[in-house]
Amino acid sequence: MMGSGTVSPRTERRDGAGRCARHLALILLALVLLPLSPSLADPGMSLDGRVEALLARMTLEEKIGQLTLVSNQPPFDPAAYAPDIVAGRLGGLLNFKSPGDVAILQAAARRSRLGIPLLFGADILHGYRTVFPMPLGEAASFDPPLARFASEMAAREASEAGLNWTFAPDADLSRDPRWGRMVEGSGEDPYLGRVFTRARVEGFRAGGLATTLKHFAGYGAPIGGRDYDASAIAPADLHDSFLPPFRAGIEAGSESVMSGLNSVNGVPSTVNEALLTGILREKWGFRGFVVSDWAAVLELQQHGVAADGAEAARKALLAGVDMDMESRLYERHLPEEVRSGRVPLRIVDEAVRRVLRAKFGMGLFERPDIDPTTRSPEILSETMRQAARAVARDTMVLLRNEGALLPLAGPKRIALVGGMAGQGRDLTGPHAAKVRFEDAPPIVDALRARAERDGATVSFAPGCEAECLSDEGFDAALEAARQADIVVAVLGEPYEGIGEAASRASLRLVGRQSDLLQRLVETGKPVILVLLATRPVELGPVVDRLAGLLMAWFPGTEGGAALADILFGDHAPSARLPVTWPRSVGQVPLTYDGVPSGRPHDPGNRFTLRYVDEDLAPLFPFGFGLSYGTVAYSDLQVVTPRVSRAGTLDISVQLGNTGRQAVREVAQLYVRQIVSSRSRPRRQLKAFRKVALQPGQSETVTFRVPAAEFGFHRDDGSYVVEAGRYTVFVGASSDAELGTGFEVVE
Ligand code: NOJ
Repeated sequence: MMGSGTVSPRTERRDGAGRCARHLALILLALVLLPLSPSLADPGMSLDGRVEALLARMTLEEKIGQLTLVSNQPPFDPAAYAPDIVAGRLGGLLNFKSPGDVAILQAAARRSRLGIPLLFGADILHGYRTVFPMPLGEAASFDPPLARFASEMAAREASEAGLNWTFAPDADLSRDPRWGRMVEGSGEDPYLGRVFTRARVEGFRAGGLATTLKHFAGYGAPIGGRDYDASAIAPADLHDSFLPPFRAGIEAGSESVMSGLNSVNGVPSTVNEALLTGILREKWGFRGFVVSDWAAVLELQQHGVAADGAEAARKALLAGVDMDMESRLYERHLPEEVRSGRVPLRIVDEAVRRVLRAKFGMGLFERPDIDPTTRSPEILSETMRQAARAVARDTMVLLRNEGALLPLAGPKRIALVGGMAGQGRDLTGPHAAKVRFEDAPPIVDALRARAERDGATVSFAPGCEAECLSDEGFDAALEAARQADIVVAVLGEPYEGIGEAASRASLRLVGRQSDLLQRLVETGKPVILVLLATRPVELGPVVDRLAGLLMAWFPGTEGGAALADILFGDHAPSARLPVTWPRSVGQVPLTYDGVPSGRPHDPGNRFTLRYVDEDLAPLFPFGFGLSYGTVAYSDLQVVTPRVSRAGTLDISVQLGNTGRQAVREVAQLYVRQIVSSRSRPRRQLKAFRKVALQPGQSETVTFRVPAAEFGFHRDDGSYVVEAGRYTVFVGASSDAELGTGFEVVE
């Protein structure tokens, strides 16, 4: 629930004064105790006590050092960073991902006057060496514990290598598949974003990494889908949709938050005091630290809000950015800014406190240094590989299965087409920290190994390389298709065009892949299209001629084996779309939770909602996905037809497996407020349950949803749950039709 704990400014000021007095007392106490307990690592003291004791011993330059984070840069020589570390000029490093480097740098930190340990950060989003499916794919599992598990495994590998801090999870809500970084988050839905963000924070922590919620806030809505461009988000929408995943991550205990690179409603996030201080700290009570994104303090000059580096550093710190990533402007300018009185020392102290609190809280002062000579048993172990495979097969979304062609059964001649099927690279996805492409067995090897067991054969004729720039190999691929019983085409977005700075103006298949697909379909052989992609793909009319369509995202190191598990029916697909799948890019942004129009589409009236050249409906709705069986929903019963605002909606529904295959169904619950003080979304996801059902089995599924979930924010950020009539829908996607009414009462 959002916004329930609004704090009045007066209470805050009183609390602030109280905190100051407490801090002062602690400092005095610490100064008295210092000679008695010279060890900063004394775990007998309270965390805040240790922070104050240490702070009291720091010079201004050492303090600013704790606010400075720099990256490993060419020529990638860790020894070059040692002098700055020994002098106390650096608090953290990023992109040092090898145990050997970490060991050298840790030793340098030990030699510094105060011996404060370093933060070692990296983008561990879905793996360190063993790559798990990309985050959006994990969200498609509709199984948050699975994402928690994947995050924990990734963190375990990374922390074995000496890393202690990940720049993840990505809590950015995104409604625009043109934006390349949609892949890093949990899709378009705030509720899904909340539960997955929370699960990932917990998982990374369990695996030994501190987390960073990024990119605060609204970075996922750049105009035109262009990465780094400005976002324009209505205030109520910001509160209702974009902020809740961050809040969930804060509540789960994330140690840090990263501010976004772009501007939102005209204010660059790096200087957005209302967000970084007003909401994050004062409203939500966040006690961790805020790190800027890469060189974002420097870029304030490009944004046109700072005339020079000194102003940029001053504005960012005063707005609430505690740590400067990579621009080194805090280091260069804050000493003078403080000495001249333009930046109060207490602001610097507060930022340092936040960083030190995180370091103590993470146990860094007690953690033994890494020993680079010992082998790390976890890294790319068989256990890791099996884990990655188990996660990957639960992320693949089956979107079409004409005549129940899948799962493939019996001896068959399979033609495998598509350059991406021949190389491990295109399984891994963006931000895969220490990835080695050769670790990922290509799809062709995995399918061949599995097909052999059924006496089936796989003939691989790629047709073109992954980027598909030439049609020279098309004839061979078409010939292979003609000789086969079935065609599996693996197409999509090759590795080079995904992730950060990979916005697209077109969502069509890259290069000449569409031609290839069209010609494969024209052979008359059944074609199963497997998409390796980070976002929905615009397929055009050919989609209706596909026998099967499977969205495999970027499934990671064991993606090939996981794909074989699904195609051959060793594991049934159970994932669902975490994003609406548009028919064409012109429909974007298109989500299931828009507000109603006063002129809903009426085919008989041209002055109603419509495109003259496109359907309004998406190709596939949010929440959609098939399994190898069929499930019937019935008997929707509201146990609590009248719910108080503090109460809980209790509801039950009957699910029956009416097919011949075991299924794991994702039962989804959506709510709509019928009449309200402002237009409310047509429906909003409020709960889901993943339920395993054997053939013939029925089960009553119950949901308990607090009425506090049914409210919304006003433009000023206050939250209200209105009394009145609501409809609840339960079903297999956001198109669920089974619905009934209930009332929220005063
Ligand atoms: C820039 C990206 O925006 C951010 O997400 C990432 O954590 C940093 N680079 C560090 O790699």
